[in-house]
Amino acid sequence: MPRLDAPLKVTGAAKYGVDHNFPGMAYGYVVVSTVANGEIEGMDVEAAKAAPGVLGVYSPFDPLVLTAPTLAAFGETWVPLQNKEVDYHGQPIAFVVAETFEQARDAAALIDVTYRERPAVTSLQEGLATAEDPPAVRGGGPTSLDVLADGVASIEDAFAASPVVVDNTYSTAGQHHAPMEPHSAVAVWESGELTVYSGSQGSHLQVAELADALRLDRSAVHSVNPFVGGAFGGKGRTSAPAFLAAAAAMVLERPVKASLTREQVFTATAGRAATVQRVSLGAHRNGMLVALRHDSWCATDVDRSFVEPTSHGTSREWYATENLSISQKIVPLNLPRTTFMRAPGEAPGSFALESAMDELAVALDMDPIELRRRNSSVAPPGVDLQWSSKHLDECFEIGARRFGWNRRRPGERVEGDWVVGMGTATAMFPAIRFPATVRVTLHADETAEVATSGADPGTGLLTVLNQIAAESLDLAPERVTAKLGDSNLPPGGLSGGSTATASTGTAIMIAATQLIDELVALASEPGAPFAGKEVTYADGKVFADGQELTFGALLRELGRESLVVSGSSAPGEEMTKHSFSSFGAQFCEVRVHRLTREVRVSRMLGVFDAGRIINEQTARSQLMGGMIWGVSAALHEAMEFEADGRLANGDFAGYLIPVNADIPEVDVEFVQYPDTLHNAVGARGVGEIGVVGMAAAIANAVYDATGIRVRHIPIRIEDLL
Ligand code: MOS
Repeated sequence: MPRLDAPLKVTGAAKYGVDHNFPGMAYGYVVVSTVANGEIEGMDVEAAKAAPGVLGVYSPFDPLVLTAPTLAAFGETWVPLQNKEVDYHGQPIAFVVAETFEQARDAAALIDVTYRERPAVTSLQEGLATAEDPPAVRGGGPTSLDVLADGVASIEDAFAASPVVVDNTYSTAGQHHAPMEPHSAVAVWESGELTVYSGSQGSHLQVAELADALRLDRSAVHSVNPFVGGAFGGKGRTSAPAFLAAAAAMVLERPVKASLTREQVFTATAGRAATVQRVSLGAHRNGMLVALRHDSWCATDVDRSFVEPTSHGTSREWYATENLSISQKIVPLNLPRTTFMRAPGEAPGSFALESAMDELAVALDMDPIELRRRNSSVAPPGVDLQWSSKHLDECFEIGARRFGWNRRRPGERVEGDWVVGMGTATAMFPAIRFPATVRVTLHADETAEVATSGADPGTGLLTVLNQIAAESLDLAPERVTAKLGDSNLPPGGLSGGSTATASTGTAIMIAATQLIDELVALASEPGAPFAGKEVTYADGKVFADGQELTFGALLRELGRESLVVSGSSAPGEEMTKHSFSSFGAQFCEVRVHRLTREVRVSRMLGVFDAGRIINEQTARSQLMGGMIWGVSAALHEAMEFEADGRLANGDFAGYLIPVNADIPEVDVEFVQYPDTLHNAVGARGVGEIGVVGMAAAIANAVYDATGIRVRHIPIRIEDLL
């Protein structure tokens, strides 16, 4: 089934947040700091206030009042203008509202700021000496963990007893969210109700944050986001322009539109922290792991608002080993804030771990796929609950055949001026569900509707809701309308954590089952067309005694316009019975130019075990997108900071991401084993796993081609000279 929203998107009919316009609307412009650490001493705003069309100039000296909200999903979310502290270069410090966008921007340029500057710590290397224990990590897991076999006194002893040890340090660059739709909002305050049009990963979460920040009742806030132009963690928390536009709309009693500029998106929102990771692997000569140690340090912001939990994944998902030690430290820096980004933890963590596995394969002179096969786990290390469904070996078998892995000739393949290499890596991502509620309606006009407040940030959720509803109601998809992205709809989970299909899909199945039960009961009630008879349902009809009625005809006969049921689902007892994860095998071929040393990816293949795939088109697109994100991490993306903390490449000229010419055809295959132990739909989610392992597969291919092991990403020409 093709993506339902595609025609709206490619014709420009889809209305994103800032596409909404209202009579009397004013425009806000965000002003950002120009130092990385210090206190704002003074702000001369007189010229800005006197500039044409200016309606308000807000700053820490004359703020819009906001209270930092704290949600269980995110922790505390920072709100702008509430004090004079500057923690990074590019932090929102003022907001100018005017009659037009240009007037607001011009007035913003007239603000003169003086700072009492403090020395800034802006590099992870520099901060390592003062690393701290993290407050907590995503999922509530341990920040350090030691699992030792009986009779083993310490992890060091386990390494001492290992015939083969590889022990190396890897690093990954900081990255920043750069969605096509910049963080932005249109806020309308009318009759005591606030409506905010703003791309987010869950409208009900945005309502909770805005209501708490503005001290409003949650029932007085309405968030609308039917279309979201990219998110992947960057639009979980409410953005500065959304808080500021909402607060200004209330003060000025006019609709306010505000958007970050492209450059501001790179600092005034949040990104993925840089990491340093030491991975030690001890193995028998047959490849079986004896010991695994993964120590990580990640950058974070001064508020320590996010931990990129790279070691954490190693303890939950990867290899069978009797002796495991992980640790996670954080390094607060005067750099832009950090947050969730596609496979937080697993993406950079898998670069280190899967590079190390490749190094171990080289040390053992063993095929890297065989090494992984020998160490495949039946459960997370130290956990009694086995994987509900795991077909990783099959992913590698299919992948190796399809990719021509047996043609790999380390260091020996030369084609013209190019040396060619192949690399592989494992991908894993935990399967999670969040609570979700969905409303399913049958209408007397023979149509059905499925509705939830959850978001479709381009993932395909809208289409998938439609498909699961149609299937659950035994109707043709054309008869079903799906609605999402509006907080007035039932609270529909969060488009994050690769959870939306499993969470909302399960709720749809529960609602549809109940809806059919109620329809059948209605049909057989006294006075109903099939009173007292045994009634069944199929294909949109009720049947009794060889007679049939469509559900629409039945509702009409009963004088009803519709029949409505809400269904809810949440993680439950299954969590006490199994461990849940998706798995994949990543393959990549690279060419390195003999003279220029540029690296080109020439082929990629990912074979994924993610349970049932509801929609092959949108699932494939998610996985392709993830794999391309991995190419970006491996060869392109890095935030480059000056020593004073200014981001040197905060635009699309300097912040490199792959373009079409960098990406060959991307091949994606699924093995489909519905995981009904995890949820009734059998789907485990595909949003994040595509990026996991890909950077390592590329680095491993670079080694295969050149014999040069690069232990940091992105890999650049100068690394291969
Ligand atoms: Mo994602 S990083 O779970 O939005």
